[in-house]
Amino acid sequence: MHTPNHSLQDKVVLITGTASGQGREAALRFAAVGARVIGCDVSEEGNLETRKQVEAAGGSIITMEPVNLADPVSARQWVEEAASIHGRIDVLYNNAARPHFADFETFPLDGWQFTIDNELNLVFYTTQAAWPFLKKQGGVIINTASTAGMTGSGYGGAAHAAAKAGVIGFTKHMAFEGAQFGIRVVSISPGVIETPGFVAWARDNPDEAKPLLAKNLIPRFGKPQDIAGVALFLASDDAAYITGDNIVVDGGRVSW
Ligand SMILES: NC(=O)c1ccc[n+]([C@@H]2O[C@H](COP(=O)([O-])OP(=O)(O)OC[C@H]3O[C@@H](n4cnc5c(N)ncnc54)[C@H](O)[C@@H]3O)[C@@H](O)[C@H]2O)c1
Repeated sequence: MHTPNHSLQDKVVLITGTASGQGREAALRFAAVGARVIGCDVSEEGNLETRKQVEAAGGSIITMEPVNLADPVSARQWVEEAASIHGRIDVLYNNAARPHFADFETFPLDGWQFTIDNELNLVFYTTQAAWPFLKKQGGVIINTASTAGMTGSGYGGAAHAAAKAGVIGFTKHMAFEGAQFGIRVVSISPGVIETPGFVAWARDNPDEAKPLLAKNLIPRFGKPQDIAGVALFLASDDAAYITGDNIVVDGGRVSW
């Protein structure tokens, strides 16, 4: 019988931002199908909780924390240490990001720079560091973009929209660079997903949160599980003929 995602058994999967939300769920799901997960995050407490949950479910995970991937030296160090543990990298899942939101006219320069560093530059740093390892036997890079990078963000998200559009463009280019080495590169663009950051924001801004659902065809916010399932598929051999694409997972919000 066909076992779903059997191709991920024993694969070395690096996931960024495993302390929370989609990164934690991905760590749980990849570990559940037998992958050897190596996570990192700036948050120590959250990452230790993720480790506890993965191990309690019988999965394999090594986490490193605190790692600030917006610092190129730390990002490279994490990737190289992770690669040395099992001697290879099969999947790099660039999930971590944090934006600064502000009104455009007074958008602070350091807020713009922070967003580009923490949403776009960190993807370049980890990808460049992982490239020589992925080139050896091929592999998969999954970059988390956003529908904000396709349609704009709203609510002070000029830098966020620009950074995520950059992630989509970088993904397409790297798919071209990687094809000759058997490296597939894809992005996932989530819509509005109920993760700790978003839930806290929605609780404080109910008037702004409700209209976010107005265009959804599937009338609910997304859950981290909705994204993790797609990431598992994209990382697996079931997606062997998919590269360079931006997969939208948003309950139909931007599709019509
Ligand atoms: N939640 C949504 O509605 C939504 C929508 C579209 C895209 N996304 C994207 O999904 C991804 C996951 O976000 P989430 O919703 O799970 O949010 P989250 O805030 O729950 O998780 C993000 C994690 O990344 C970590 N992180 C951020 N910057 C880091 C850095 N420089 N170095 C190391 N770790 C860092 C954070 O500490 C956190 O644990 C992000 O790329 C985000 O932009 C989220």
